[in-house]
Amino acid sequence: MSIADESQFGRKLLDSRFVTAEELAFCQERQRELNEKGEKLPLSEVVVREGYVTRTQLGRLGKSLDEDSMYRPAQQIPGFQIMSKLGQGAMATVYKARQLSLDRIVAIKVLPRRLSENQEFVDRFYREGRAAARLNHPNIVQAVDVGEASGYHYFVMEYIDGMTVYDLLQEKKFLNEAEAINCILQVSQALNHAHARGFIHRDVKPKNIMVTNDGIVKLADMGLAREISDYKTAQSEQGRAYGTPYYISPEQIRGEINIDFRADIYSLGATLYHMVTGKVPFEGSTPSSVMHKHLKEELVPPDHLNTKLSAGMAEIIEGMLAKQRDDRYPSTKDLIADLESVAAGGPPFQARKKLDPTVLEDIAASGVTVTSASPHDLDPRVGNGYDPNRLTILVLSIVLAISILANVAMLIFQNSA
Ligand SMILES: Nc1ncnc2c1ncn2[C@@H]1O[C@H](COP(=O)(O)OP(=O)(O)OP(=O)(O)O)[C@@H](O)[C@H]1O
Ligand SMILES: [Mg+2]
Repeated sequence: MSIADESQFGRKLLDSRFVTAEELAFCQERQRELNEKGEKLPLSEVVVREGYVTRTQLGRLGKSLDEDSMYRPAQQIPGFQIMSKLGQGAMATVYKARQLSLDRIVAIKVLPRRLSENQEFVDRFYREGRAAARLNHPNIVQAVDVGEASGYHYFVMEYIDGMTVYDLLQEKKFLNEAEAINCILQVSQALNHAHARGFIHRDVKPKNIMVTNDGIVKLADMGLAREISDYKTAQSEQGRAYGTPYYISPEQIRGEINIDFRADIYSLGATLYHMVTGKVPFEGSTPSSVMHKHLKEELVPPDHLNTKLSAGMAEIIEGMLAKQRDDRYPSTKDLIADLESVAAGGPPFQARKKLDPTVLEDIAASGVTVTSASPHDLDPRVGNGYDPNRLTILVLSIVLAISILANVAMLIFQNSA
């Protein structure tokens, strides 16, 4: 520890009331004595030895000191006045700040120093940050600037006065279908804009979707470089620190290089599934068990978990969460069309086009008409091949035949009478 760090640690001990000023002075004196005898110990070690702090307490103190030191670089970003801390992610800390030149509130994401030392990451951070700043859409958190101050790299963006969908789900467990469709439609508009310009988000999840106090939905972290690859995030148990991969697409788990917009559609589908059922599509105690399920396990249909869900909505979600990306929506525009149709009480045309051909063959063999029925009505898991239209026609035909016979009988009876 440097002298400055030692004195900061001393202050922290005092502020946290682990020691009095006299006790701190005693420990510092003890440290000097030991030093003279050739035993060079940091102050933290001395206070533990002298019994003022346990090792566990020391760990907690260290963590809080780290946070304080994160705060320091943010306070030194020229042109910005830091107001408060907004949140902490796996990779960075986000602050609310005033941009002095324009006198407006912004959010600043500050990377820890360890990332600043990784030149390849820093280059990517600047490249992608600058590219993202060229995107402009009402449903995308606007990127403003990237820069470096005192060795810390930062990303300035539009400040969102609201909460994340993650926070919403913590509070309400799940949303009703109309609320969820409204939110996902706005994210789809954001993605459509980005996809059309060659951007893939790669990390669509409830924590990256913010809702303003006026109900406008904003997709965050668009184009923001990530510290480790999707593959590593997914594969390693070390990836645990980056959150369990509940929303990641199978192709990202497999580490495929040519990830396209359909990875975002899968992650958005997983987010929508969570929003309307209160559960992530695949649960597991470790990241690897969750990933294995994304790759192999059949999805529990969302309308089995929430029976109030419309069949159309369930079809959309299942279409988004297809394991093979070829079986997902062929474009974000098609997804938007289906979401709009279901929101207006209509059917999801595109999801139905994707109906599994083997199911179609089974249906054809059973004699059921396919044109007007939803794949859910025809789903062999729920249906039994029974068609109410055919029964109605049969009953009407019998009634008609009886009435014809009755009329003929009456004519014969009248003629003979
Ligand atoms: N533009 C913003 N305006 C207001 N608050 C924001 C903004 N961006 C992020 N935040 C807040 O900061 C928190 C941390 O964001 P960050 O992107 O670092 O991590 P995350 O997305 O929550 O999680 P992870 O690191 O796992 O991806 C968010 O959860 C959100 O509450
Ligand atoms: Mg984020």
